[in-house]
Amino acid sequence: MVSENSGIKIAASILNSNFINLASEIKKVEKAGVEMLHIDVMDGNFVPNITIGPPIIECLRKNTRLFLDVHLMIKKPDRLLDSFIESGADLINVHAEECPHLDRTLNYIKQAGKKAAVALNPSTPLCFIENVLGLVDMVLIMTVNPGFGGQKFIHDMVYKIRKLKAMIEDYRIYSSNVKKCVDIQVDGGINIDTAPIVAGAGANVLVMGTAIYESDDPAEYIKKVRDKILMVKTI
Ligand code: DX5
Ligand code: ZN
Repeated sequence: MVSENSGIKIAASILNSNFINLASEIKKVEKAGVEMLHIDVMDGNFVPNITIGPPIIECLRKNTRLFLDVHLMIKKPDRLLDSFIESGADLINVHAEECPHLDRTLNYIKQAGKKAAVALNPSTPLCFIENVLGLVDMVLIMTVNPGFGGQKFIHDMVYKIRKLKAMIEDYRIYSSNVKKCVDIQVDGGINIDTAPIVAGAGANVLVMGTAIYESDDPAEYIKKVRDKILMVKTI
């Protein structure tokens, strides 16, 4: 028997859901027991795909109590932060590659009363975020190149997650901000096989899109994922 609580948060990505039936697609993951809704905003410029923007997030906000985790895959996100803040997002995640004044951007998000996160593409080194760990609530390690759902997990990212976990521990020891907890999120190709690997490396917020939406029974699938993570962590 395994216990119910794996300490892992699951963020359902709606990118591969059926947009015609968005309301019922969201109810489906709510009932399945996810902790967050992960919203992929793409501009056809930072990434080769276009998805949704603030008006849809406003609709989502009115239709769910789930925590709204907004992943901005857009050029120069500073220009549009106010729209996303006003849309009802709970957390705003910017890509480090697009923020030359990352400290300022993260402070802006936090001063607006939102949680702030920063994302790194697979090829972007961790040193990009080393000096903002005191500001962020979460760091997102992309485990695919951003732009599309349904891609294959990049295994080399496991090493990067381990390094980030160690970096955060060091930060807690050596900075005066000793209580600071920083979540480690992973996004791309996460399923029942890869989830235990990333959780074992230190990730605690797992974005899952295709795996949940292609499952016949999302609630059962998520339960199995949590149980498998617990088994791996307790071995
Ligand atoms: C990729 C997006 C992901 C993606 C995850 O650019 O940021 O959130 O939708 O989808 P799966 O789980 O299908 O890889
Ligand atoms: Zn995403």
